[in-house]
Amino acid sequence: MSIKVVFVCLGNICRSPTAEGVMRKLVEEANLDNQITVDSCGTASFHIGKQADARAIAACAKQNIDISCLQARQLSQDDNQANYIMAMDRSNLTNIQACLPNFPGKLSLLLSYHPPGSGFLEVPDPYYDDDKAFADVLLMIQNACQSLLETIIKDHSLC
Ligand code: 4NP
Repeated sequence: MSIKVVFVCLGNICRSPTAEGVMRKLVEEANLDNQITVDSCGTASFHIGKQADARAIAACAKQNIDISCLQARQLSQDDNQANYIMAMDRSNLTNIQACLPNFPGKLSLLLSYHPPGSGFLEVPDPYYDDDKAFADVLLMIQNACQSLLETIIKDHSLC
């Protein structure tokens, strides 16, 4: 059975679809796509069914990551099936704990996997910011997803 990773932000149109695209690419490059499934969602309902924000799509496209076909969805009880849920910020984490109080997997801030010394624990919300904020968020997510993948590989003895 495949190991399931779900990235969670507020709207599922900026940060978590970016993380989904980044992680999918890393997983494919490691030839682990038959063993690791990647998904994302938001804690809020206001963007359900929408495409990712155009600025997130553009930032990812510059790194050859295509997130244009992702559609926002809201966190649900089905996400209890995940092995890893990665929250972008503390507010997401609190909302996930409220929605899934008995989540049996690993629930943490994505940036707890960021290389030590980076100084950030939360992925800042770029929605009301500029293109540079989206590029910065993408870089943070790429670094953290690389370490997250290494952890998953170790946890499940995949290599
Ligand atoms: P995300 O960003 O949580 O990274 O998808 C946001 C998207 C939309 C809103 C806030 C944050 N909003 O208020 O509509």
